[in-house]
Amino acid sequence: MRILSGVQPSGRLHIGNYFGAIHQFVDLQHKGMGLYFIADLHALTTIRDAARMRELVRDVALNFLALGLDPQKATLFRQSDIPEVAELSWILSTVTPMGLLERAHSYKDKTARGISPDHGLFAYPVLMAADILVYHSDVVPVGRDQKQHVEITRDIAVKFNSTYCPGFDPATGEGGALKLPKPLILEETAVVPGIDGQKMSKSYGNTIDLFGPEKEVRKRIMGIKTDSTPLEAPKDPDKCNVFALIKLFAQPAELAQIRGLYEKGGTGYGEFKKRLADMFFVRFGEARKRYAELQSDPAYVEGVLSDGATRARDIAAKVMQEVRKATGLK
Ligand code: ADP
Ligand code: TRP
Repeated sequence: MRILSGVQPSGRLHIGNYFGAIHQFVDLQHKGMGLYFIADLHALTTIRDAARMRELVRDVALNFLALGLDPQKATLFRQSDIPEVAELSWILSTVTPMGLLERAHSYKDKTARGISPDHGLFAYPVLMAADILVYHSDVVPVGRDQKQHVEITRDIAVKFNSTYCPGFDPATGEGGALKLPKPLILEETAVVPGIDGQKMSKSYGNTIDLFGPEKEVRKRIMGIKTDSTPLEAPKDPDKCNVFALIKLFAQPAELAQIRGLYEKGGTGYGEFKKRLADMFFVRFGEARKRYAELQSDPAYVEGVLSDGATRARDIAAKVMQEVRKATGLK
């Protein structure tokens, strides 16, 4: 089974990225062939500073490695190191209906927020389809916000196969040059809330960063928005942003105990925030140490990425041969 996913280097990674994505990638490296990449071509739609791009790409690689990705087991690489992706992206764009892209949530959300769209933003799902299809990926683990993009990928693959592969059967997905992938969504952590209660996202400025300085992390956690229920009154854990985050960290018995404290009253939100901060450092302490070590070894990180690119290109080159043959380009 080929498992593929990508993370954009568009900012520092936060606990939403961890629980919604990276945590699964690290687990899944034991269940099949993991292909994980840093989506630098996608990030060009937002990062327009070369030094920052280089720094963020390196940072995502460090994050993956610090959080337990084993480069012997899984393949970690840069999207732009695989030129076949850009080639397939163009070929796919010629069979992609405009309407399919006009319906994409991320495009609609961004234009609704007043961001004036360029072609890169509009064509974003086509590049993502190329990322997935060029490796004959079976499974694509992502947060729920990316589910539609994987569905669009399937639609584009069906379109390509129906156009160019006479033996293709859309009901079974058999007989095409491109394999139809499936999204894998971890439901219970599907949307991690940010410190303001909205979805945690780099673009909303409401994140708790995985590898931020300890003081900063504690400050962000202490700044989580809560209601004004007085300290002594009972509190509803299911309406509390702090509790929603505690749920990601606590074992069942500890969670039940904290739920009890909420319902009983007499404990302030500040107390719960402190507990959350402690849980954060227990959970990520080891990874934060490894992150600091890796930071002082850039040659190792570069080596991992270039090995990864060689392995990924090997797969991509074979799939592209079939695609070129099917389209008559070869
Ligand atoms: P951001 O919204 O911060 O820009 P990305 O869009 O780069 O994050 O997401 C990278 C990965 O992390 C994706 O698979 C995405 O689904 C997941 N992810 C991002 N934010 C969250 C969140 N708040 N909850 C769950 N998963 C998330
Ligand atoms: N669009 C994804 C995100 O913003 C990143 C991404 C790019 C991706 N290409 C991909 C994820 C292919 C999975 C598969 O999170």
